Amino acid sequence: MTRRFAEFPATRTRRLRRTPALRALVREARLSGDDLIWPVFVCDGAGVTQEVASMPGVIRRSVDLTAAAAAEAFAAGIRTICLFPYTDPALKTDLCEEAWNPDNLSNRAIRAIKAEVPGISVMTDVALDPYNAQGHDGIVRDGEILNDESVAALVKMALAQADAGADILGPSDMMDGRIGAMRTALEAAGHQGVTIMSYAAKYASAFYGPFRDAVGASGALKGDKKTYQLDPANAEEGLRCVERDLAEGADMVMVKPGMPYLDICRRVKDRFGCPTFAYQVSGEYAMIRAAAGNGWIDGERAMMESLMAFRRAGCDGVLTYFAPEAAGLIAKGWE
Ligand code: PBG
Repeated sequence: MTRRFAEFPATRTRRLRRTPALRALVREARLSGDDLIWPVFVCDGAGVTQEVASMPGVIRRSVDLTAAAAAEAFAAGIRTICLFPYTDPALKTDLCEEAWNPDNLSNRAIRAIKAEVPGISVMTDVALDPYNAQGHDGIVRDGEILNDESVAALVKMALAQADAGADILGPSDMMDGRIGAMRTALEAAGHQGVTIMSYAAKYASAFYGPFRDAVGASGALKGDKKTYQLDPANAEEGLRCVERDLAEGADMVMVKPGMPYLDICRRVKDRFGCPTFAYQVSGEYAMIRAAAGNGWIDGERAMMESLMAFRRAGCDGVLTYFAPEAAGLIAKGWE
């Protein structure tokens, strides 16, 4: 029997939007502090904070203050923190030896955070750019970024981070074969429990600009990163990189940048069903902050909407400079 309605509209989708309780009942995606990874910038010294001009609200902290900030973030509901060192230019060399110094800034910060907040997961960046006189993620010879020599250096760097107590290694370099090489070395060194979140689909993006200021790499970089980071026009190639990195032993994968690449997030999740993360990078953060600072958008709402979009697109979590602020709003019952 065909049902007849006397009048249209026959379907009133607005019924389920009528009250906050109904909207909450049918909400599809959820965002919690568990989903947020907080990237932090670490600098030398003690009791030191430095502002990052292109990222209003973001500061570099010395190791002691980073450990204190990690404790505070953990109490506020953030369970993973990701470290990026601001390395003294005097320590940058062509062979990037500081990258695997067991006492470099990043490794000291890992130990300090694990000592202060054992329950927090510490994630690292595995790439040579903070230590490279050339500013690249790999070792450069005669203007060329060498793949296999870079992988050998990255493996040493990853082992030093694992020895320092890192829970999640984040290779962000886009060299070929680094995941397999790191996984083999970690197994051999007794670090079977250390996880790898591969920056598998990382694009050659203009949105990293403020980050390069934050880690002091902008001045050093010669040329661009297009021979190793992905062409923004390519989705299939990104998916092939994800497939390859999972096969080589990555536990989780990342898409980067975030908001302009939500299609890649969705396709990675649908095709591989693996733990999938997005990095809402420095330029995305700066855009929202700048527009909010000028009174052009509501900063809090834009922040929360952007984070929810990652969840809707299939991401398990998001690396975001907004993490502490977002966790604060979530704790207060943000809808
Ligand atoms: C470097 C690295 C970059 C970012 C994270 N790790 C910059 C780059 O690839 O040039 C960018 C993060 C951001 O913009 O917030 N290996």
